[in-house]
Amino acid sequence: MTRPRIVVTRKIPEAAMEILREAGEVWAPEPDRALPAEELHRVVGDADAIVATLQDRVDGALADAAGPRLKVISTVAVGYDNADVPALADRGVVFTNTPGVLTDATADLAFGLLLAVTRRLGEGERLLRSRTPWSFHLGFMLGSGLQGKTLGIVGLGQIGQAMARRALAFGMEIAYSGRRRAPEDVERELRATYLDREELLRTADVVSLHCPLTPETRHLIDARALAVMKRSAYLVNTTRGPVVDEAALAEALANGQIAGAGLDVFENEPEVHPGLLELDNVALAPHLGSATVETRTAMAVLAARNTAAVLSGGEPLTPVKG
Ligand code: DGY
Repeated sequence: MTRPRIVVTRKIPEAAMEILREAGEVWAPEPDRALPAEELHRVVGDADAIVATLQDRVDGALADAAGPRLKVISTVAVGYDNADVPALADRGVVFTNTPGVLTDATADLAFGLLLAVTRRLGEGERLLRSRTPWSFHLGFMLGSGLQGKTLGIVGLGQIGQAMARRALAFGMEIAYSGRRRAPEDVERELRATYLDREELLRTADVVSLHCPLTPETRHLIDARALAVMKRSAYLVNTTRGPVVDEAALAEALANGQIAGAGLDVFENEPEVHPGLLELDNVALAPHLGSATVETRTAMAVLAARNTAAVLSGGEPLTPVKG
């Protein structure tokens, strides 16, 4: 019997490769590089499984290019706005993601960006690296404290909840908005108040985005939403860039309409709106939310286990329902 053919689109940790090699014959680009769509469609021919990343467009065309043997596409990410899940379901292809294992790493980074922008860490580092003369005085580079301030979480899922736990430890109050209310025990544990989005934007000292990118959340934070926020408020985005209208944000930050922003994701990655690069009141990171050795290994291992489970006729651990 021929062993299943597994195509891995980008380099993944060895622990995950070992699981995949047990499950079939593995092909991965050597050396590691992003495959243009045309080449990707060529290399997936006759694949039984594809292990993809958020840079790959995972749609009906990809499944069709693989052909009738394709059983599963496992993405090494929790977000899957790059995937056309119904098109895969129509073709009988199982699609899986990696929820849970990157929750803490992403919340750590979101909170790190919040501290970086409120305490002006990037600005301070740039000052020192530019060898600009400075001396300590009581009014020097004052930031904004977090104690007693309200964190407004948009999307109280796993990562939003982990962000709330960190904020509680810093003495913050928690408010949240979302499509539906969180279970009572979650609200109780986090002492979280449910607000409609407008009220949350109007009252929060920090707005942190943890909702997925969907047609409904694209440009959720636009010029109008930014105008509703307090002038002293900060915005943190570690979900997906297009949830924020980046041009409107650059303008709001430049005009002092809000106090600052911490951004890990961008509308047209790897591009960053040039206006943001000019501003001191923005802390920037290049999509590092899940970028720890431990987390990336856990994500790839989960994707590999999902792949192996489906190839052996079992149920995947973390399927995305079409
Ligand atoms: C995800 O998993 O969706 C992150 O953006 C990358 O880890």
